[in-house]
Amino acid sequence: MKRLWSIFLAVMLLTGLCAAWAEEENEMENYTRYTDYAPQTAEPIGLIPGTNHKVLVAWFSRVGNTMFDPDVDVVSSATLNRDENGELIGNAGLIAKWIAEETGADVFPIQTAYTYPSDYYQTVAVGEGQDIDFVNLQMATHLDDVSGYDTVYLAAPIWHYTVCTPLRAFLEETDLSGKTIYVFTAHCGSRFADTVEKIRQLQPNATVIQGVAVSGYDPYSFESEVRTFAQNTMK
Ligand SMILES: Cc1cc2nc3c(=O)[nH]c(=O)nc-3n(C[C@H](O)[C@H](O)[C@H](O)COP(=O)(O)O)c2cc1C
Repeated sequence: MKRLWSIFLAVMLLTGLCAAWAEEENEMENYTRYTDYAPQTAEPIGLIPGTNHKVLVAWFSRVGNTMFDPDVDVVSSATLNRDENGELIGNAGLIAKWIAEETGADVFPIQTAYTYPSDYYQTVAVGEGQDIDFVNLQMATHLDDVSGYDTVYLAAPIWHYTVCTPLRAFLEETDLSGKTIYVFTAHCGSRFADTVEKIRQLQPNATVIQGVAVSGYDPYSFESEVRTFAQNTMK
């Protein structure tokens, strides 16, 4: 009888363990892993020197980190825009371009090691996954020497009501202590969300100042505000 009980208990234990494991497997299947997507194939762009090496503008956008079909429909793909030459340009990329034109800043496009899916809603799902499993986010670009800069402009989209994960990753590994940081966002309604506070937490020894929040639906209507803000920071 005792032996029967032991066998019964062993079978129950094994069944329980298998069920728990199967549940975990299911969760993993439903979970979009960032590294499931294609690695960047092109060489990362890296730092583009301007004329004023005391000023840096670092930015992150979906464009430059997504393998878009060149004929992608920018109307149905939320907040995708083209520049004056008809090339796809990220909204944060546009902000960075305007700031660099006004200030002569060196420009640093932040790039991730893996690209995002071209479908907007899939990217949203990946973004959620990254928030849960931040450790999976790997960067293609790293800025090793920031000692020459006294002013840094940051431009990046809001993701999930906060600063997007690639910008967060950049700020985790880049020490901007002692510098003045101006924060610009691209968004679809959240404006800055908690980005300024988050950046203050990540860079406690920098002076962090709110810049301009640009709507991704109509970025060009914010151009003069961004340019004027950038000009004023140089006075
Ligand atoms: C993963 C993901 C999450 C997003 N979450 C938000 C959000 O919480 N609030 C918001 O206003 N916009 C959100 N958006 C929209 C982007 O902020 C908006 O499209 C922005 O203009 C994109 O800038 P970019 O072209 O520089 O990538 C999200 C976009 C993505 C891809």
